This record gives sequence, structure tokens and C-alpha cells, in this order.
Amino acid sequence: MKRIPIIIDCDPGIDDTMMLMLAFSREELDIRLITTEAGNLTIDKTTYNALSFLSYINKRVEVAKGLSQPIFRQQEVAEDIHGEGGLGNVEWAVPTFEASERPAIQAMYETLMQAEMPITIVATGPLTNVGALLLAHPEVKAKIARISWMGGAAVGGNMSTTAEFNAYVDPHAVELVMRSGVPIIMSGLDVTHKAYITREEMTQLSQLETPFAQKVANMMNFYTFTQKQTPFNPPYFEEQIRVHDVSAIACLVHPEMYRGDDYFVEVELEGRLTQGATIVDYAKRSGKTPNVHVLHDVEREKFIALFFDAVMKIGNTL
Ligand code: BDR
Ligand code: CA
Repeated sequence: MKRIPIIIDCDPGIDDTMMLMLAFSREELDIRLITTEAGNLTIDKTTYNALSFLSYINKRVEVAKGLSQPIFRQQEVAEDIHGEGGLGNVEWAVPTFEASERPAIQAMYETLMQAEMPITIVATGPLTNVGALLLAHPEVKAKIARISWMGGAAVGGNMSTTAEFNAYVDPHAVELVMRSGVPIIMSGLDVTHKAYITREEMTQLSQLETPFAQKVANMMNFYTFTQKQTPFNPPYFEEQIRVHDVSAIACLVHPEMYRGDDYFVEVELEGRLTQGATIVDYAKRSGKTPNVHVLHDVEREKFIALFFDAVMKIGNTL
């Protein structure tokens, strides 16, 4: 089987952890490196969580610690959504290995430059590391096959009325990535709000018998109560539990499950009310060449089947 080489840049975080679970359950992925982001939590916490989860599932891939602050802005975290430790109330494992001696950007650079073929970067945080990498080492662009990013939204936001969390936290990094010329797949809120788990499916999850599945169910359950409610979608958040970051992997292994189109996308850097908004030219009126493949729909049942398959596969190996 021809495997897809990937680097994962993440800020675990509940849904980042579920994204790692899916990634490690798929044989078609060759995970070369994991880098951590400051995002949902401080960099020390996201790095600890990545090491802790990998230790629990017995997967030892180099974990390199990323930058501790967004490029220009002050750091914002999302402990209200993910919990103080970032993984709900769940403890995975005391890490059995340490973060790499190489900082994230060096590790990414060397991994890309030494690779025999272009590598896909899967990014599920604010893009600080990837933006800084492109700024410091523009020659790596030729070695990046594409960037699959969970972030942004064509319509609406979850951090502010107009901005999604990852884009809001480090819009300057998003700008560096959007302007890089590297192919980008954007799994924004437009599609991740459609990739949800229902209450009934949460019950099914909690009935799976492995200790791993139990922990996943507990962690997800925490998330159920912290996802934000808006006046426009009342029962929505209680009934539909989103696992945003999982789409950044799912769209690589099963692209046929997703619908999207190519658009020109820019990010608002300084907007008084719109900072971090990703402006998707979906009317196609700008005349500018599309730079992002924006996903807008997913076959939810197939997505859930993939998610459950990952819970069972990983659970059965432990
Ligand atoms: C994104 O924000 C974070 O809280 C999640 O981990 C995800 O990457 C969703 O807006
Ligand atoms: Ca994330």
C-alpha cells in the first residue's frame, strides 16, 4: 500500500486527541512527526497531552514542542471548552517518553527537507508553527504536498461572531499560510459543524467495552457540556457534539466523503469586529485565483463509522 506521509501539528485539546486517535488507526498514513501548538492550552500543557495520549496508545512518534505564543497577538486559550488540563476530566497516561530535543520548527524543517517525497501537513491548531516555518524557510514549500487545516469558516465563528478559534488566535500565521502558494484544504466550521456525534451515538460509544472506549466516551462527554450555545441553534449544541479536528485527517483518508470547492480566501488581521475572520470569496467575484479548497459538506454517517472504527481498532490493540 502506498502510504501518505504526514506531519501533524496540533494543540490537544479534546478533538485534537480524537484526531490523533483516527490518524493512528489508519494504515494508509505514515506519521513522521508530531509538533505541538499553543492554542487550546499553553504549550506545556498541549505537549504533555500529546505525550500522554501517545503513551497510552503505545505509539512512539517524535513529539517536538512548538512556539509558545502566536506570531503577534497575545495568547488566548480555550480551557473553558476543553477543561483545565485540556482533556476533560480524563487522565491518559504518565508519559513514557519525552518531547524531542529539536524544537518544532527545526524538526519540521529537517523532516521535510530529508523526505523522499512531499509531505502533507495536518494542522489542527492556530497555525503558528506552520506560519513561522514558511517564513523562516520558504524553500520547504516545494517539500509540502498540501496543508490540511482545521480552522476558519466561510460563514460565522465560534470564538467571535465572525471568527473561528484557530484563526482568531493567530490570524498572522493564517495569513502566512494562505499566501504561501502551498495547496490548502480547509475544514472550517462550515463542514465540522456537520461532522457531529449525536446523543444516541454517545450512548453507543459509552457501551463499547474496552477501557479505551470508556475513556473516549468520558472525555467526549465533558465536551458535550462546554461547547457553546448561540441563540440561533438552541438544542443543537446539546444534541450534536462536534469533533472538529477529526475532519483534517478524515478528509485525507476518505476524500470522497467530503464536498468542497476551490476559493480565494483571506484572513482579517486588524478588523475592529472581525479579527480572525476568514473571508471566503464564495461568490467568486474577486477575480483572484483560488488558494484554498474549502470543504462545506460531509457524509455524516460515514464519518461516524470511521470514528467508531478508530475507537474500536485502537481499543483492541491495548
Ligand atoms: C478548533 O478550536 C479548538 O478549540 C479545537 O481544538 C479546534 O481545533 C475549533 O474551532
Ligand atoms: Ca485543535
